Amino acid sequence: MSGTTIFIIGLIAAALLAVAGVATIAGRRGPAPTSSVGDFDRRAARKDRARRKAEEQAVAAEVTEAETVAPPRAEPDLSDPLLERKEVSTNEYGVTRRKFLNRSLGTLFGIFLGQFALASLAFLWPKLGSGFGTPIAIGKFSDLKSQIEQPDGTSVPLFVAAAQSWVVPFDESSQAGSSFEGLPVVASDGSGTGLMALWQRCVHLGCRVPSCVSSQGFECPCHGSKYNLHGEYEAGPAPRNMDRFAVELDETGELVVLTGEVFQTARTTNKTAAYPQGPFCV
Ligand code: FES
Repeated sequence: MSGTTIFIIGLIAAALLAVAGVATIAGRRGPAPTSSVGDFDRRAARKDRARRKAEEQAVAAEVTEAETVAPPRAEPDLSDPLLERKEVSTNEYGVTRRKFLNRSLGTLFGIFLGQFALASLAFLWPKLGSGFGTPIAIGKFSDLKSQIEQPDGTSVPLFVAAAQSWVVPFDESSQAGSSFEGLPVVASDGSGTGLMALWQRCVHLGCRVPSCVSSQGFECPCHGSKYNLHGEYEAGPAPRNMDRFAVELDETGELVVLTGEVFQTARTTNKTAAYPQGPFCV
């Protein structure tokens, strides 16, 4: 066999081997109807996972970039203050309410006591500015006398409400040796007949004593005590003469009754006025 024949035979054998190898490789990679589907799904799944992962990474990158550019917004405070109250137990709640009621009652009682104390103080406090308890000018001495002394020689006591007084005439010559000697209870204009201010309050139990023109005295309707025109005790349960105030004439000729200066005098048999001079009123 020549070399050319061997070369041709070798070339044909190599060609056959090549065809066989190609056929083998093609058979391995060629898609079989059943297995090709499974191979395709796994690859597609891998591709799909890879694609989703790439998309997620892209989204994450965008979010990171957005967070880097814009600062995160502060979350609004949605907490409820009522829910932050301190919880109080039932026992503590009862004590608190009891304390509240006790303190309220104590406060009201204190206010009541304070008002009562102020009202009592206001009632008992002497009125030093004006009114009863202070010197009160009740009119011109001459005017007062003319109202009291009547043309028929009788006297009608003049009541002055502001001074709570009965103003009566008084013979100054009878003061010496009487219950009123040395007391500033007679105001005089030098005419010999002065004026005296008797407290209208009965010295027995405090009733207002009216005058009795007919008897020319004062007769208490409560228990029947009687006093003459100068307030001297005459009858009844009264323990002493009627009380009287200090009086004086001011520079203008007005009679001033010092209602803060009260003089008490004892019963006496040395009377300065006749009584009764007519029918009793009581
Ligand atoms: S109060 Fe005047 S007699 Fe008793």
